[in-house]
Amino acid sequence: MLSPAFADVRPASAMGVDIALESRESEAVPIHENGWTDPTGRAERVADRDEAAGHFPLTTLGYHCWRELDYLPATRDLLPVALAEHVRAGQRALDVGCHHGAAAVYLASLGLRVLGVDINPRAIEAARQHRPDATSRCRPEFIVADFLRDRVAAAGSIDVVVLNRFLTCLPAVEDWQDALSRALELLTEGGLIYVGDFLLMPACPHNRRRYQLAHANGGRWGNFAVLDDQGRPSFVAHHHSVQELRRMVSPYRVLCFRRFSTRSRHGHASRMFELIGVNERRPV
Ligand SMILES: C[S@@+](CC[C@H](N)C(=O)[O-])C[C@H]1O[C@@H](n2cnc3c(N)ncnc32)[C@H](O)[C@@H]1O
Repeated sequence: MLSPAFADVRPASAMGVDIALESRESEAVPIHENGWTDPTGRAERVADRDEAAGHFPLTTLGYHCWRELDYLPATRDLLPVALAEHVRAGQRALDVGCHHGAAAVYLASLGLRVLGVDINPRAIEAARQHRPDATSRCRPEFIVADFLRDRVAAAGSIDVVVLNRFLTCLPAVEDWQDALSRALELLTEGGLIYVGDFLLMPACPHNRRRYQLAHANGGRWGNFAVLDDQGRPSFVAHHHSVQELRRMVSPYRVLCFRRFSTRSRHGHASRMFELIGVNERRPV
């Protein structure tokens, strides 16, 4: 049951959107090449630091701008409901880029001990306003932290790391890779990673134009500038290619991967995915 405080917050599976279930409980998940590949191949060369290094010239629009942003989510809140059948009360969860804390509060309602971190102090202030209710078994903690710089937990101490629409905020490929490495390092053996994020939509002329513009400015393919209501660039977001998905899941055994469609608050269609992976390696 969702808490009444989040009555307007629906799991992806209840949003009435077109959800195409790719696989469930499968170890060999087919991540199909259905057009959403990176034609530049840059993601494939992500380990090559010289090639990948900081191309986006709008340096003020790296992830640091999130400290100050008055952000309205592009779509309705999406909760990591798919995790529910894979977690146990008492486990430790970390919600990275928790914003107003919707996912953290949801996980706490399952009995998890949740830490929500966000780089934006106003988002954390709002998250702390949530009052526990009858369905919440634990109360999440919230702290202001930069996940890419600050040590938010000890290595190997977290059972569930949630990256819900977080990787989309990391336009520089090094930051994206660093976030994934940090998440892996924090996980216990048998710990779960949950990623919910956006897919490339090259067949959509609106998005293709946006990717081309950012790419012409030196950005990673799939980056685009998000404009504020006055038409000024507000932040740079990223849509993920199939190569990036493969890189993302490579350290894990995949429990669940699915794609679905939704609409942004501006009425644009978005393609999204959610995945759950198990860390089967012993923490270093
Ligand atoms: C697109 S929002 C997603 C929020 C929430 N997870 C959701 O799905 O609605 C991304 C969040 O990540 C936060 N963020 C961006 N960079 C961060 C960083 N380096 N460390 C921690 N939080 C960060 C932003 O402030 C923002 O609240």
